Amino acid sequence: MCQPHTDGFRVVITGKGGVGKTTLTSCLATVLAQNGINVLAVDEDPQMNLPHALGLGVEGASRIVPLNRHADYIEEKTGIRPGKSGWGAMFKLNPDVDDVVERFGLKVGENLNLLVMGTVKQAGGGCLCAENVLLDATIRHLALRRDEAILLDTPAGVEHFGRALAKGFNQCLVVADSTFNALTVACHSAVLARQIGIPSVYLVVNRVTEGGEDKLARFQEETRLDLAGVFDGMLMLPVEPQLEALDPEVTRIMGNRESRFAGAVTTLALRLSAPACSCSSADSTH
Ligand SMILES: Nc1ncnc2c1ncn2[C@@H]1O[C@H](COP(=O)(O)OP(=O)(O)OP(=O)(O)O)[C@@H](O)[C@H]1O
Ligand SMILES: [Mg+2]
Repeated sequence: MCQPHTDGFRVVITGKGGVGKTTLTSCLATVLAQNGINVLAVDEDPQMNLPHALGLGVEGASRIVPLNRHADYIEEKTGIRPGKSGWGAMFKLNPDVDDVVERFGLKVGENLNLLVMGTVKQAGGGCLCAENVLLDATIRHLALRRDEAILLDTPAGVEHFGRALAKGFNQCLVVADSTFNALTVACHSAVLARQIGIPSVYLVVNRVTEGGEDKLARFQEETRLDLAGVFDGMLMLPVEPQLEALDPEVTRIMGNRESRFAGAVTTLALRLSAPACSCSSADSTH
């Protein structure tokens, strides 16, 4: 029996560069919103590709002011002006950010809002500067009601796991293609995701072509890693040649009923919104 979330859900999307994180985030956001879930898509990548994927266009995207540049708001919430951090600075570590979406979120469709974070500064295990305190609070403490979801698109690699940002997420989607390097990064990401306490970590193998499963089998043989043991579940997304023509507004693929890629993303969206579901699916390894 499928159990819906009682208080919304938070999903972080991670993986090696260029494997399809932003494409997946935007397509999932689109289908979840169509299914009546109030979605906040958050762009944590300094490249800011998510607005384009969601169809904002060059002009719309160019008007976005990332959250980390709203100095007055950051000061109001954290007590510290950006750039003024230092010894002795007293942060409000858990600022109340419940108005952040209302003030800075961009409505990109019915049930679909976008929040662009801006470049996050890294320093050792995480920089305790006013911007980061605010960005972390935004993700971790935004109260979510039932039928609300946050999807976080992250920059390539695993650095963001060094910060507290992904803490508090219920689910992590690790995206890879079938290459050895992407799968290696994926397995490393899964370990880090578990270390910060994300309970459900799924592997999404993207751009799968014929023979993709053989590549996964070879990877497991060579590395002696059992992907079914590393991840809580696994899903394959087929290569979708039409995405190239739709670039950058890739979410338009979700309107194509013939697309196997769109169908697989829809399956994944359903699974994310009902993670306690014990129903099995042909796409899943277990
Ligand atoms: N299933 C697919 N079939 C074909 N092309 C795809 C598929 N998924 C993604 N792509 C294409 O792959 C390219 C990279 O995708 P995307 O930008 O989503 O990756 P990313 O992981 O977000 O990259 P980055 O690490 O730079 O943020 C895009 O041109 C996208 O259209
Ligand atoms: Mg991206």
